[in-house]
Parts: sequence; C-alpha cells; structure tokens
Amino acid sequence: AKVAVLISGRGSNMVALADAAKAPDCPYEIVLVGSNDPAAPGLAAAARRGIPTWSLSHKGLKRAEFDMAVDAALRAAGAQWVALAGYMRLLSPDFVARWEGRMLNIHPSLLPRYKGLDTHARVLAAGDPVHGVSVHLVTAELDGGPVLARREIQVLPGDTPETLASRALVEEHILYPQVLAEMVRR
Ligand code: GRF
Repeated sequence: AKVAVLISGRGSNMVALADAAKAPDCPYEIVLVGSNDPAAPGLAAAARRGIPTWSLSHKGLKRAEFDMAVDAALRAAGAQWVALAGYMRLLSPDFVARWEGRMLNIHPSLLPRYKGLDTHARVLAAGDPVHGVSVHLVTAELDGGPVLARREIQVLPGDTPETLASRALVEEHILYPQVLAEMVRR
C-alpha cells in the first residue's frame, strides 16, 4: 500500500514508519512526506532516505484552500493512505471526508483521555499513575476518531513533561508502524 506521511516538525515518527517500511515483509511503502512548514527538519530526514518530499506554507492560505493543495499532492504521489505524524494543523471537513477510514494519527496520550496539546503536563498535573500513546483513525473531531491501539507507560516519581515525552516517544515509534501495517493489510 502507498502511504503519505504528513509532518510539521522533527519527524521522528515518520522516520520510524520509513525504517519499518524497509523490511521485506512490510505491507506499505512511504511515497511522500508532506509538510505545512517548508523548514520542518523531518523533510530533510525524509530526503536523506530518498523519500519524495512536498511542502507548502499554510500561511496566508484559507484552511480549505491549503488542504486542497495537500490533497492534490497526496493524489499526485499515488497515496492510498495518510499517516499524520506530528502534523500540527486542524483539518478541514472536506479533507477529512476525502480520506476518512484511510487516515491515521498518533497521539501522545491514552485516548480518549487528554485530547489536544500538552498531554504530558496534563497527565502530571492530574497525578495519573499511567500514561501512554494511541493510534486512531482521523475524523472531524480533533483526536476523537476510533482508537486502533494504545501502549502504556508508567508515570515515575520525578517525571517531568520532558522525561514523560521521551519515554512516550519510544512507544510511539513501536506502535505506529505496527498499526499502520495492520490497517493496510486488512
Ligand atoms: C509526537 O509526540 C506525536 O505523538 C505528536 O507530536 C509528536 C511528533 O513528534 N502528535 P515527531 O515529529 O514524530 O518526532
């Protein structure tokens, strides 16, 4: 299956997906890495791996207009699936409708808890003993689509948002390639 990955930043989940795609039995390939930030470090990481990249700054464009440009780039690349990986843009309803059921996101919390930003700090503030990461299908509700799989981590004494984020990231890099492979195999 042909997968496009959308990023806005460093792209470590994109790299995890791309590295897993090298395995001979991996059922997906990354055909495009796209970004709303032409300076996203993950674009260079993709290019170094020989993956085609595309970027367009969203600045000055209406959301629906920008999303239609993304959609055109995804289709031109032959993408059948979209994996959001640190993509920091809200999606227009039209774009979601076009990719619904074939668009995944990774989120650093045990959904449905802690949708949105600053999840690690919120987990600490709440005193939760357990935290984790989730992969879900993308619907019109931010971080609200059907959860496909999760991995848990323990919250440890002395944890900060940064230490939690880095332990969560390890789990993200394990979970996302697994779930994407399962989904495209169906
Ligand atoms: C990850 O924690 C992801 O769950 C969240 O944003 C971060 C992106 O990291 N949505 P990276 O760009 O994949 O390194």
